[in-house]
Amino acid sequence: MGGAAALAVSIAGLTIHVMTAPSPRKLLLGITGGIAAYKAAELARLFVKAGWQVQVVMTAHATEFVAPLTFQALTGREVRGALFDPQHEAAMGHIELARWPDAIVIAPASANTIAKLAQGRADDLLSTLCLATDKPLFVVPAMNRLMWSNAATQDNLALLRRRGVQQLGPGSGSQACGEIGEGRMWEPEQIFDSVSAALGQTKDLAGLHAVVTAGPTREPLDPVRFISNRSSGKQGYAVAAALASRGAKVTLISGPTQLPTPAGITRIDVESAEQMLGISLAAAAEAQIFVGAAAVADYRASSVAPEKIKKSGEAMTLTLSKNPDILARVRAAQPALFLVGFAAETEKLAEHARGKLEKKQLNLIAANWVGAGKAFDTEDNALSLFWPGGEAEIASASKAEVARQLVDRIIALYRSR
Ligand code: PMT
Repeated sequence: MGGAAALAVSIAGLTIHVMTAPSPRKLLLGITGGIAAYKAAELARLFVKAGWQVQVVMTAHATEFVAPLTFQALTGREVRGALFDPQHEAAMGHIELARWPDAIVIAPASANTIAKLAQGRADDLLSTLCLATDKPLFVVPAMNRLMWSNAATQDNLALLRRRGVQQLGPGSGSQACGEIGEGRMWEPEQIFDSVSAALGQTKDLAGLHAVVTAGPTREPLDPVRFISNRSSGKQGYAVAAALASRGAKVTLISGPTQLPTPAGITRIDVESAEQMLGISLAAAAEAQIFVGAAAVADYRASSVAPEKIKKSGEAMTLTLSKNPDILARVRAAQPALFLVGFAAETEKLAEHARGKLEKKQLNLIAANWVGAGKAFDTEDNALSLFWPGGEAEIASASKAEVARQLVDRIIALYRSR
């Protein structure tokens, strides 16, 4: 893959060491038929902006949604689509094209293309390339929620994952077909971050270990019931992906979510705050950076009923006990750790966030307004950052973009310590 190369040249008895310019990385971007194809234009732009050469391959159905000219203008390369193209077989034929990239990303990946990949079919240029390559392959599913939840699609993806294909997404939310559910294509920034992380694109956190908590906790009441909250894990997962994209080794400690693990990240699943605490303390002992984005339940049932609680009177009283504060306990165990907390607030955001910053002895706190459809289980977010001696705002954007800006701030503050 790309990277600067050292060259030693001897002239008149002197040896001159020359660092050649890094060769640009090459991405083959496959686009299949679906309304999310329009988002692939932004994805192509992000890669081009980051210095990649991007070759777009579109299926016939994809060209019904977006004109190839859009991608040609963005990438400066003619879009390919035909399997039997005499002009290109003479130059970069389909086998050569399969060898060319450092990675292949299919975004959006339709249910049909996923099925073809699973079956090893080669009836168009994109599926043929995927069969004829040994390069990392990322599929970014996008489809209607019922197509997504269909057992055929799920089995096909499970098979592809077992073969080493990396699945990015999907997310959930409102869909172009008017329905609400899982199957939305990940946002371009999130895809870019995950692919970059998986391929080790940016490495200014190389050699550092970061731990991120994400998602809700579940505090059991009896064998079938629990207390929890509306956290989807999206913001914490995006932070984990953004840290990994900067080269950090990332451990993601996740409460129950519906999200796939971002590429290149080690994920440990937990349910309760007590479990999250135990794993957090162990992981923090090996880390330099810790980000607590999880929505940890502050209280748990004082006793968990061994059998399902029976319906009885008109009212029932639950006795709750305070959960341990994970961030405070991590700080007590690791005084030198760079510790980042989140604050979820419905009032006096700055005042409450600053209070938590001080009480939990954090290096940085990221506060978001919650309630009224904000932050919890949304695609976008906005953050107010506070640290000892400073503050900054991150304007509303996709959670991937917000995470990227938060990680920029973490790196700046970590380095200035
Ligand atoms: O998951 P999403 O749907 O994407 O939503 C994202 C989010 C809103 C959950 C996220 O951005 C966020 O705000 N996470 C923190 C939620 C929260 O629990 O905030 P808090 O103000 O109650 O807690 C402050 C900090 O203490 C948090 O970093 C929390 O992880 C931590 N904490 C809280 C309780 C506890 N017992 N132990 C803790 O460590």
